[in-house]
Amino acid sequence: MLAGLLLAGSALTPVASAAPGPLYKNPHASTSARVNDLLKRMSLDDKIGQMTQAERGAVTPDQAAALKLGSLLSGGGSVPASNTPTGWADMVDSYQKAAVSTPLGIPTIYGVDAVHGHNNVYGATIFPHNIGLGAANNPRLVEKIGRATALEVAGTGPQWDFSPCLCVARDDRWGRTYESFGESPRDAIANASAITGLQGRRLGEKPGSVLATAKHYVGDGGTTNGVDQGDTEVSERELRQIHLPPFREAIDRGVGSVMISFSSFQGVRMHAQKYLITDVLKKELRFRGLVISDYNAIDQIDGKEGFTPEEVRLSVNAGIDMFMVPWDAPQFIAYLKAEVEAGRVSRERIDDANRRILAEKFELGLFEHPYTDRSLQKTFGSKEHRELARQAVRESQVLLKNDGVLPLAKTNNKIFVAGKNANDIGNQAGGWTLTWQGQSGPVIPGTTILDGIKSGAGKGTTVTYDRAGDGIDGSYQVAVAVVGETPYAEGQGDRPNGFGLDAEDLATIAKLKSSGVPVVVVTVSGRPLDIAAQLPRFDGLVAAWLPGSEGAGVADVLYGDYNPTGKLTFSWPVSAAQEPVNVGDGKKALYPYGYGLRYRR
Ligand code: GLC
Repeated sequence: MLAGLLLAGSALTPVASAAPGPLYKNPHASTSARVNDLLKRMSLDDKIGQMTQAERGAVTPDQAAALKLGSLLSGGGSVPASNTPTGWADMVDSYQKAAVSTPLGIPTIYGVDAVHGHNNVYGATIFPHNIGLGAANNPRLVEKIGRATALEVAGTGPQWDFSPCLCVARDDRWGRTYESFGESPRDAIANASAITGLQGRRLGEKPGSVLATAKHYVGDGGTTNGVDQGDTEVSERELRQIHLPPFREAIDRGVGSVMISFSSFQGVRMHAQKYLITDVLKKELRFRGLVISDYNAIDQIDGKEGFTPEEVRLSVNAGIDMFMVPWDAPQFIAYLKAEVEAGRVSRERIDDANRRILAEKFELGLFEHPYTDRSLQKTFGSKEHRELARQAVRESQVLLKNDGVLPLAKTNNKIFVAGKNANDIGNQAGGWTLTWQGQSGPVIPGTTILDGIKSGAGKGTTVTYDRAGDGIDGSYQVAVAVVGETPYAEGQGDRPNGFGLDAEDLATIAKLKSSGVPVVVVTVSGRPLDIAAQLPRFDGLVAAWLPGSEGAGVADVLYGDYNPTGKLTFSWPVSAAQEPVNVGDGKKALYPYGYGLRYRR
């Protein structure tokens, strides 16, 4: 049938074609018209299925379709047998094929935590974690990283990225400090540019656009003593001043989803906070996208293992739209259906959730393009992306001390490199790398910091490496000790008892110092470290944070190929005992928020 044409001015303007088939399948119809039409055709089972997200390891494609699941996810480290772009695309497309083969053909949406590149997949470009990107103070760079990440994600299949974390980490003992851009809301506000990189100016506007997630709403970084999933015992005024503004910015940027925090606010789990989710996020801030729970998070509402019908009712009625119930989808579906049929969850609430979920799927273009655009795989781990990552590493380095020992001479130098983090790409990548917790060792392709020091050495320069510093003597002109933390994620990174250098690092630095050679210390860590006691013995100090796969970017700064511009977005405490210490709190930090040196040319 010819598309209807209207005479408008001198031109004929095509209007929504009266294409055959249901309105919701017409890409020229408005999103709201498509949502309304589809909603009318959906049963209660269809609608409850759309609100349910399961882990890929828990359901086959056919089981997912039979449950009418709206979404699948890969939890950290949940990868297909072939952890390659093709292996991922085949896996994601197999769920999609089953979904679009159902009577209504509603596509599923697949979510991953690509929080510093597409970090689940071997060979992806691994960018610095947010703590370093915050120090780079370059929102445009972060937007480009978002775009690069989206291309690498979309080319492997997933259409949803549970990123960026817009947490404002207020206590460095928190295991997720490195997922924060900084201790001030302005850091997360500025770097919410990641959303525009991931989604585009408008969701679905171009190939590779993926649904972004502002997380974790709200106050995850403000818990007492930095306890992960703890209680944010601040006033509503402080919550609105410190933790809410990044979500306002994310909404202004059109973020399509918001993830609720595990933490509590004033003793009540966020997943049961109707006032903050429905009244504040959805009504006051006018968030139109979908709200998703965190992983099994509704289980925690009553403080007991597993979830109950009451916890399902409380969290749905609080305003959460989609539920990450990785291994318990059938149970969730059964409980919610019973709650609706008993009249304890309204059909209007179910419809509100579905409108939000379906609108994102329509905006993403999933109904028109349900399968992976494999042409994007040419960007995966590309040279261009790795160069972008290396630039981000350069800009994230913060020079904290320099007694004239930096920059290192590239020629006619004799450099000794030591430390457990000098030649360990797993340690420099940190958590959320291939697995949830990350791991030490040569686990991903890229360059270590030592690789960079070696490749940057010029004529007449030798570079010697020994992890413990064995072999150092007075014939060396300078020593570089790359020390710090080994990978962790979430609560496993909580450090309630302090965060100083470990015994190995202290021994390595002492050995280097005993030779009389000047020592540059480079910290690879997910937080500022408690180093004040050792600082007088450091001739130079650089915070490298968690640089990711392109460690050579650290060497670019050590050699002065890039004059450091990084500035602290976390007050560096005089000791762990000083925590929390934040800009404007009147406490005197060892190095204040905004501190960072440059080389005098
Ligand atoms: C995790 C994290 C969240 C992540 C989700 C899915 O527990 O809290 O940031 O997006 O589960 O992996």
